[in-house]
Amino acid sequence: MRQMKTVLPTYAEEISPKTVTKPIDVPEQTLSEEQLQEKIAELSNARYKYEKFRNMSHIDLRDGTTMPALAIGTALLEPKLVKHIVSAAIDLGFRAIDTAYIYGNEQAIGEAIKAKINEGTVTRDELFVISKLWSTFHRRDLVMKACKQSLENMGLDYFDLYMIHNPMSFKEGNDPIPKIANVLQYSEHDYLDAWYGIEDVIRKGLAKRGGVSNFNSVQVERVVDKGNIKPVLNQVECHPYLTQQRLEDFCSIRNIKLSCYGVLGSKGTPEELKSGLSPVIDDPLVKVMSAELGITPAQLLIA
Ligand SMILES: NC(=O)c1ccc[n+]([C@@H]2O[C@H](COP(=O)([O-])OP(=O)(O)OC[C@H]3O[C@@H](n4cnc5c(N)ncnc54)[C@H](OP(=O)(O)O)[C@@H]3O)[C@@H](O)[C@H]2O)c1
Repeated sequence: MRQMKTVLPTYAEEISPKTVTKPIDVPEQTLSEEQLQEKIAELSNARYKYEKFRNMSHIDLRDGTTMPALAIGTALLEPKLVKHIVSAAIDLGFRAIDTAYIYGNEQAIGEAIKAKINEGTVTRDELFVISKLWSTFHRRDLVMKACKQSLENMGLDYFDLYMIHNPMSFKEGNDPIPKIANVLQYSEHDYLDAWYGIEDVIRKGLAKRGGVSNFNSVQVERVVDKGNIKPVLNQVECHPYLTQQRLEDFCSIRNIKLSCYGVLGSKGTPEELKSGLSPVIDDPLVKVMSAELGITPAQLLIA
């Protein structure tokens, strides 16, 4: 049901004509054509079935702007549904869209955005499009190329937020998770090089602002200390099993917002990447508390 082996684009200047394949070997799609058509119909009708967000909360960012508090995530989506999911999300009032090069679906997301702008549902200004730099592109000069490639894939002129996806810097080249004899190969260029690259991208107007993701407090501090432009947020896994309270306090003092993923416990994570623990959405206490409040476990966790 989840993301298949998808062919990702390559950067002509950097690498050989070999294709870059998706790093996560997720199960093959099991949806029949009939199920697929049912899902597409459901997504197309979502705007009639569900209530649209009337008052989306916004978060104040350090640069004086705001971003929507909720974003539609785009990782591990069934490839044939990506366009429909993003379109339905925009119809329902989502304005922030969380994407990444490594998700391998930038083109379909871009097509959905373009269609929604063309039909007048939304303007580009109203959207907050987030993208993330993959770990093999941390060398400063590669950041610009990677960002331009992602923009081109999505048919956009700029990102509202461009983040370093991970603090780990992998060896540059074709392979998104380069390994030799099963040992991960790291780059000699670290996340600070990548941050300087993000600053270049911002100065060039290709991203309105920069952020980091999966950074711990030491890594955040180094970027804040050495960087000329400060990150506006740090996106990390966060839910009742991993509250990130200390990291949030640390970031908050530095005027950096903490943005959360995995709030439902990342139930859709491929089997080989799972810890074995049940996801938080299945926690009995979450179920009891949400039932008492008359809301769903997902609503409780997101709130
Ligand atoms: N920066 C990073 O490193 C990073 C890492 C992970 C994720 N992200 C971002 O965060 C986004 C969200 O990822 P996530 O891991 O938090 O996964 P998620 O999309 O919030 O949830 C995934 C799982 O939760 C289930 N689910 C979703 N809504 C539900 C509901 N209302 N009730 C019950 N179950 C529900 C889904 O089931 P169904 O499949 O049945 O719908 C799916 O299996 C990603 O798409 C990506 O954009 C960023």
